[in-house]
Amino acid sequence: MRRALSDQITFFRQFRKRFETTGAIAPSSGFLARSMTRFLAARDMSIPVRVLEIGPGTGPVTDQIIRLLRPSDRFDLVELNESFATLLQKRFASHETWRQAADISQIHQIPIQEFQPDHQYDFVISGLPLNNFPAEVVKSIADTYFALLRPGGILSYFEYMYVRPIRRRITRGAEKERIILIDDIMNDHCSRCRIGRDNVWINVPPAWVQHLQAKS
Ligand SMILES: C[S@@+](CC[C@H](N)C(=O)[O-])C[C@H]1O[C@@H](n2cnc3c(N)ncnc32)[C@H](O)[C@@H]1O
Repeated sequence: MRRALSDQITFFRQFRKRFETTGAIAPSSGFLARSMTRFLAARDMSIPVRVLEIGPGTGPVTDQIIRLLRPSDRFDLVELNESFATLLQKRFASHETWRQAADISQIHQIPIQEFQPDHQYDFVISGLPLNNFPAEVVKSIADTYFALLRPGGILSYFEYMYVRPIRRRITRGAEKERIILIDDIMNDHCSRCRIGRDNVWINVPPAWVQHLQAKS
C-alpha cells in the first residue's frame, strides 16, 4: 500500500517533469498489467522464453511479468528515464518476488531506439506513450518492435481509449497531421498482425491493449 502510494508520487513527479515521455498521470492498474501479460501467461511454461519490457516506469507491468517468469527465461527492461531505472534497480535488490527474478533480468537505461541486443524476443511488452511522439519517431519505434520480435513472437502494447479519434476531430494543422500519420502507422500494423484487443476500463485513463504477432 505504502509502495503503491510512493510509486504514484514518483510517477506524477516524472509526469510533471517529462510529460512527453512519461505520457500518463498515474502508473497502470493491475487490470491493465494482466491484459498486457495474458499471452505470456498462456505460453507453454516448459519452453524458455526471452521477454522485453519497454517503458516499465515504476513497474506495475514488470511486477506481473516477473511472476510469470521461470529460472530458464531471460528478461530485459529498457527504460529511458533514470529515476524510473534507479527505482526498478532498487526493487530488484529489495523486494522478495523481484529478487527471485534478479539473476535473469537486466535493466538498460537507454531509449529503445538505441537498444541493440544480439537476439530477438518471444514477447515484447511496451508501455510507450506513442501518441505523444512525432510521427517519424512512432514509425521508427514500431519498426523497432518488429525487428526485436522473433518470427511468431508477440507484441503487446496499450493506448489510452479514443485519444487519437478525439484528437483527430478537435485538432488542426500540423497536430492533426501528426495524429493522422500515427493512426495510419499503427492501424497498418494492426490490420496485418493483430491477434487480439482488450478493453481495460479499470485504469486511469481506460485503455485498449493491442496484441500483435510477428509473421512466422
Ligand atoms: C505511459 S508510461 C508507462 C509506465 C508503465 N509501463 C506503466 O504502465 O505504468 C511510459 C514509460 O515509457 C518510458 N519511455 C518513454 N519513451 C521511451 C523510450 N524512447 N525508450 C524507453 N522508454 C521510454 C517513460 O520513461 C515511461 O516510463
